Amino acid sequence: MNPPLQLPLLVVREVTTRYRMGGVDVDALKGISLTVQAGEFMALAGTSGSGKTTLLNLIGAIDTPSSGDILIDGIPLRLLRPDELARFRCKKLGFIFQTFNLIPTLSTLENVEYPLLLLGMSKRQRRKMASEALEQVGLGKKLLNKPSELSGGQRQRVAIARAMAKKPRLILADEPTANLDRKTAIEILDLMQKLNKELQTTFVFSTHDHMILQRAERTFFLADGEHSEAPLTFATSEMKRCA
Ligand SMILES: Nc1ncnc2c1ncn2[C@@H]1O[C@H](COP(=O)(O)OP(=O)(O)OP(=O)(O)O)[C@@H](O)[C@H]1O
Ligand SMILES: [Mg+2]
Repeated sequence: MNPPLQLPLLVVREVTTRYRMGGVDVDALKGISLTVQAGEFMALAGTSGSGKTTLLNLIGAIDTPSSGDILIDGIPLRLLRPDELARFRCKKLGFIFQTFNLIPTLSTLENVEYPLLLLGMSKRQRRKMASEALEQVGLGKKLLNKPSELSGGQRQRVAIARAMAKKPRLILADEPTANLDRKTAIEILDLMQKLNKELQTTFVFSTHDHMILQRAERTFFLADGEHSEAPLTFATSEMKRCA
């Protein structure tokens, strides 16, 4: 008997985004199609202004495309009502940002608990899941510290724990290492990859750092809002790595 067909986790189908700025149209995405299977660890790459954040915001249902479709677990996001979409986003997706976006007045533990509170979990359950997630990212001893008492790398670990705690299907990370030094950036990528392998959580992250890109299983390149082949600079560094 054939195994059951597995639905892709994410399908981006012929998506365009047009912004209007000062009476001028900007086509930020020009017909992007992309399929991501559950469990992938993939990068979106491209120079500044190529459309990485725009695409991540569409996948994360933070924004809606001008045309085309985004499906997660086979569900077209455009068919969901605003309240359904908010619940869907809260339950199925986790977000990691370049600037960490932690709430400064809350402790590490409270920051990670916050999305669980929005999901309506009891205090006891929240505490348990948040402390487990912080343990997983190596911050089990920093539960009561405020973000200002942590290093950049530790803050990003808190953000990863916050995204992971609710066990989402997909984690979207927009330049998660851009504000970190090289060594810390690699540690953060290694941590994301470890969580991807251990928990089979799918990651899609953006970067324009070649060093970071080399750790991705697959890279989707964007250039001026369109899918493109690997640029020559990347191909050259890849060849050096293989030599
Ligand atoms: N809210 C907006 N209004 C108008 N134009 C926008 C808006 N957001 C993005 N753009 C334009 O869309 C294009 C893609 O921007 P986007 O932020 O997605 O690029 P990016 O690849 O994430 O760049 P970076 O690496 O600098 O973060 C750019 O030309 C940008 O100026
Ligand atoms: Mg961006």
